[in-house]
Amino acid sequence: MSDASRFDEISEASAAAAVGGDLQDARGLPNEAYTSRSFWQRERDTVVGATWAAIAFSSDVTTSGLTTPIDFMGLPLFMVRDHNGVVRVFHNVCSHRGMQLVSEPTEAGLMIRCPYHRWGYDLTGQLKNTPNIGGMGVHQTPGFDCSQHGLREVRSEEYFGVVFINLSGNAPPLRDHLSVVTERWQALAGANFMDQLIHDAAGSGSIELMVNCNYKLAVENYCESYHLPFIHPGLNAYSPLDQHYNLMVGEVASGQGTHTYDLERGSGTPLPVFPGWNADRLRTGEYLSLYPNVLLGLQADHFFAIILLPEAPDRTRERLQFMYVGQEALAEQMTERRQGLHEAWALVFSEDVSVVEGMQRGRQSPGFQGGVFSPVMDVPTHHFHRWFAQQLQGAAPCQHPVSGTAEST
Ligand code: FES
Ligand SMILES: [Fe+2]
Repeated sequence: MSDASRFDEISEASAAAAVGGDLQDARGLPNEAYTSRSFWQRERDTVVGATWAAIAFSSDVTTSGLTTPIDFMGLPLFMVRDHNGVVRVFHNVCSHRGMQLVSEPTEAGLMIRCPYHRWGYDLTGQLKNTPNIGGMGVHQTPGFDCSQHGLREVRSEEYFGVVFINLSGNAPPLRDHLSVVTERWQALAGANFMDQLIHDAAGSGSIELMVNCNYKLAVENYCESYHLPFIHPGLNAYSPLDQHYNLMVGEVASGQGTHTYDLERGSGTPLPVFPGWNADRLRTGEYLSLYPNVLLGLQADHFFAIILLPEAPDRTRERLQFMYVGQEALAEQMTERRQGLHEAWALVFSEDVSVVEGMQRGRQSPGFQGGVFSPVMDVPTHHFHRWFAQQLQGAAPCQHPVSGTAEST
């Protein structure tokens, strides 16, 4: 059977199992959805490509003209912030003979130059220079129209301090796509909470982990609090399982919340809280898996985003960044508190590594094909499976996968 027909077969079976009937009868995605490279590539061009996926943090591209290569599920891309402050993502390939343009973070300045024959593209992707194209010293040639040979741009937008791409080019605008999440959190954190987010650029402002698992297992593990008492005994002591609730947010996210986030916990000067945060819910914390590859956490005094970068079917790079409430939160006297949060979360996420890697190993077993869901504790996890299965069914492969050639204006 061809890879494509096997993919279609899994799509049909998964959709029927995950969507059909009630949750008690549902089955999860089969092992191949976590282990097979051909499935992984089709998944990129269908499920992932049809929606908005995260590739980087906005703070990775603060400088105009800095080009950064990104390998996204085997797809070579690079990103750059142009002179108008707009992040742009391009396929990382020269229009001439297909040389990789950017192999390491580079200060390109005004012009992105191909290392092979030095064709030059401006920061909006337009082809501007074709040295010697008509022979030595002749930089133009009849019939060759630079405007037809710019870089191939991938649709991108920023939100929550994260750079997202939509490979198909057909998803709704990112703001509309995420409006259910934004509205929910505006009701909790205040209408302008996102404007106050400040990234902590210090060493304690980020965490990076490599985990030997499919990125979906990190999503699923983040969806549920069921494992708290056994995997996170420390966290469970101050935020116990019975104080958590399930969250399903439209068709874009699911996860869990707690009623016992402790603002007073930790030493040092307390951090500022969002000015518009609901005063009756200061102890609320909410944790959402934003499909397909972002994990978010919101508390009254800090926010974090984790980008899951799938490097192989069984390997994922996890990048976390902390964001705080206004510049004042980065003041020297609050360093101890921020470092304390960093340590507490670093412990929690390191505790999760053994279970996501253990689930990945479990998916080598023919004794497992999707498993079952607790009708109470696994509702958010099932929500993700159901979304994934529906995407599998509905998704036509991207026509790889551009939003158009950059054109002269
Ligand atoms: S391949 Fe890029 S200039 Fe020739
Ligand atoms: Fe966990």
